[in-house]
Amino acid sequence: MSDLPVRFRRLWDEIAPVGRDAGSGGYLRYALTEPELRLREWFRDQADRRGMPVTGDGNGNLFAWWGDPVAGDAVLTGSHFDSVPHGGAYDGPLGIVSAFLAVDELRAAGAAPVRPVVVAAFVEEEGARFGVPCLGSRLLTGQIAVDRAAGLRDAAGVSFAEALGERPAGGDAGLLGRFAAFVELHVEQGRALVDAGAPVAVASMIWPHGRWRFDFDGEGNHAGTTRMADRRDPMLTYAFTVLAANKEARLRDAHATIGRVAVAPNATNAIPSSVTGWLDARAAEPETLRGLVEAVQAKAAERARRDGTALTCTEESTTPPVAFDAKLADRLAGLLDAPVLPTGAGHDAGVLAAHLPTAMLFVRNPSGVSHSPAESATDADCAAGVTALVRVLEELACR
Ligand code: GLV
Ligand code: MN
Ligand code: MN
Repeated sequence: MSDLPVRFRRLWDEIAPVGRDAGSGGYLRYALTEPELRLREWFRDQADRRGMPVTGDGNGNLFAWWGDPVAGDAVLTGSHFDSVPHGGAYDGPLGIVSAFLAVDELRAAGAAPVRPVVVAAFVEEEGARFGVPCLGSRLLTGQIAVDRAAGLRDAAGVSFAEALGERPAGGDAGLLGRFAAFVELHVEQGRALVDAGAPVAVASMIWPHGRWRFDFDGEGNHAGTTRMADRRDPMLTYAFTVLAANKEARLRDAHATIGRVAVAPNATNAIPSSVTGWLDARAAEPETLRGLVEAVQAKAAERARRDGTALTCTEESTTPPVAFDAKLADRLAGLLDAPVLPTGAGHDAGVLAAHLPTAMLFVRNPSGVSHSPAESATDADCAAGVTALVRVLEELACR
């Protein structure tokens, strides 16, 4: 029997403690903060041990090259290190650890790639620190203006450019042009593979999705002395909006979540002066998504009129539907004898798919849970993911 699950565990355990919160068991690995910087150092060290030179793109993304970085026609794999607040261990890092192990497997088998194999670590995929998901891949592909990305600020007021230590370089068509394909391996974020009884799947598409910030402004006042009829309480408008988002999503078979909220002054005995809620909305079709967000905005505005509050709604990011290269997906599904699944989760692969043939591999997650400490994958399935990635890299880079 192969000892790949054991070797997976050994490498995995090197990063497992980094950024783990002892209380929740989840991860606090925000982009360019200390834990993520440590993981980026680990990435450089792993690349170094394998004799893979590391290059950056001036946007915070890292690339470790097995082969000539300027040769072109390279096959890119990898994922991201950053997490959502108290996120799971696998979302992102699994794709990077698996990529380094796939390089080891190929080398041990004596494979001689005819195209470079490149392991990537993309920055700020979750958008948990600066608000815009897939920020690194959006910058690399020119899908976000450099000025806007540079000026995005975290909760402490630090800008992305400050955290990066330089103004991001922005789109790099020359670098993108050196990649022939991108294959991102990722933990599955649902239970489809549990139901299918298979360890690995190939992705077909990503639902269109986006983030909208709802700022509700009212009048801060005393909780004990302000008559109910006299209040302009933005918490009421916010609460109504949360329920409206849930209802409108259910009516459309879509998804709407308000999972982040900020309240000022956030005091038990004060009516809030302002509440901000972030809506994450996703649907199978862009028209459905648009209709959903418009309906939530209209209901929130109507409720604001009744509450005497003010509402400002700002689109922070949107991602159109992504249909992964169907020929590549079919080829990989045939090669791996794997099911093909759509997903509602966003990925750097979804951003890169507009620029080069791109595919994703999903690894079974027995809990079906993600963006939570309960996210899981067995070592055996992670090893099956590495084996699948090896076969894909053999197919794309060695023939
Ligand atoms: C990223 O994981 C997303 O789907 O938000
Ligand atoms: Mn995620
Ligand atoms: Mn991810």
